[in-house]
Amino acid sequence: MEKPWSGRFSEETDRFVEEFTESVSFDKALAIEDIDQSVAHVRTLEKAGLISPEEAGRIVKALEDIKKEVQEGRFRWRRELEDVHMNIEAELIRRLGETGKKVHTGRSRNDQVVTDERLFLKRETGEVVSLLKDIRRTLVKLAEGTVDTILPSYTHLQKAQPIRLAHYFLAFREAFLKDTERFLDCYRRIDEIPLGSGAVAGSDFPLDRFFTAEILGFSKVSRNSIQATSDRDFILEFLFACAVTGMHLSRLSEDLILWSSEEFGFVELPDRLCTGSSIMPQKKNPDLLELIRGKVGRLYGNLISLLTVLKGLPTAYNRDLQEDKEPLFDSLKTLKACLVGMRKILEGLKIRSEKMRSSAGNLTLATDLANYLVRKGVPFREAHKVVGKIVSYLVEKGKRMEELTFEELRSFSEHFSEDVLELLDPESSADRKVTYGGTSKKEVERMIEVAKREEGL
Ligand code: ARG
Repeated sequence: MEKPWSGRFSEETDRFVEEFTESVSFDKALAIEDIDQSVAHVRTLEKAGLISPEEAGRIVKALEDIKKEVQEGRFRWRRELEDVHMNIEAELIRRLGETGKKVHTGRSRNDQVVTDERLFLKRETGEVVSLLKDIRRTLVKLAEGTVDTILPSYTHLQKAQPIRLAHYFLAFREAFLKDTERFLDCYRRIDEIPLGSGAVAGSDFPLDRFFTAEILGFSKVSRNSIQATSDRDFILEFLFACAVTGMHLSRLSEDLILWSSEEFGFVELPDRLCTGSSIMPQKKNPDLLELIRGKVGRLYGNLISLLTVLKGLPTAYNRDLQEDKEPLFDSLKTLKACLVGMRKILEGLKIRSEKMRSSAGNLTLATDLANYLVRKGVPFREAHKVVGKIVSYLVEKGKRMEELTFEELRSFSEHFSEDVLELLDPESSADRKVTYGGTSKKEVERMIEVAKREEGL
């Protein structure tokens, strides 16, 4: 099949080269954007007097027909035609003859491809942001039901201080909110049209780029044709936002995997979201969570992959840039699936409040004891040391902190009075965390209200 660029060539393309360089097998995912973009370009050519209104009408009509065929899966993609752009253009020419040959006037695949990608990412950002919103809302609802569920927090995976489970869920809601902001911030830079930049230097024809932008719904027009055709920063940013979101999903997965183990027993995952073992009949494995954690590897890999492709490229467009697509498509597919999976897990989570509560006391109250002494006038470092002694006494005796008698406490410091005993309770420990953003009931309830308002719940 004759290539649109075959003019200066004297022999057929090597079959291997055809296979090696083609991108249509994956960039056909940009077909709808490519067609929309061509429609806008044709209208711009018409406005510049480069094609007649009659011709423009015929091209637009043919493009709409092709779009329908693509949407219905009837369009025949040809590898010999290299990429999505040349496939669609060739089909247009096949249908319209001479008129079809005018569509690529004043345009290069270099400004075309990146326009498609930006259009595509504008839409995809919306989808990711909406999936993130679903997760955040699910977390807020979980928080509403778990204000009075007390569990130990962990630092270094060692028990730290009692917290409210709602506080934990809100922590991840906060993380996903930051992720959402990252995508929206990235969107501002995606939303810029490169079309009209030509191959590198701009176009010879007086194309009204602001007019094209308006048709396609871009709010900005790129300001430098070299940069516009060669930069993929917006994809890097997007991949970074995917990677960070994935990292949060992975950490949440890890917690839930641990919590669903017999040793923790803090949560139970619904059967429908777990899988079994082919040999051990007792197993109920959290494979969905493990795969969310595992798939985040791809999100990192895709970011590093594109960063590596871009470094050292001579200005401006180089074919290496075609390697931006598969990492992007893979990250999108992976992230969207992980977001759906995590929402399902969160919605199906059974919480074992009793188990959480019974793990929350004992030595997690040590800091409360030290702070009690501080309130009695003992310098914090001194108080820390006294309580350290109490801890090692308890460990040695195999006793829990709540079981300490007033006399025992008194033997460690004369600053202990009877009121110290009511301190030894995880709920009241949580409620003494009075700072803004802390785990006291009052603060957690306030934060839930804020979150509900922000999520429109
Ligand atoms: N398939 C190419 C890409 O993804 C389209 C642009 C090709 N431009 C060119 N001059 N070969 O980057």
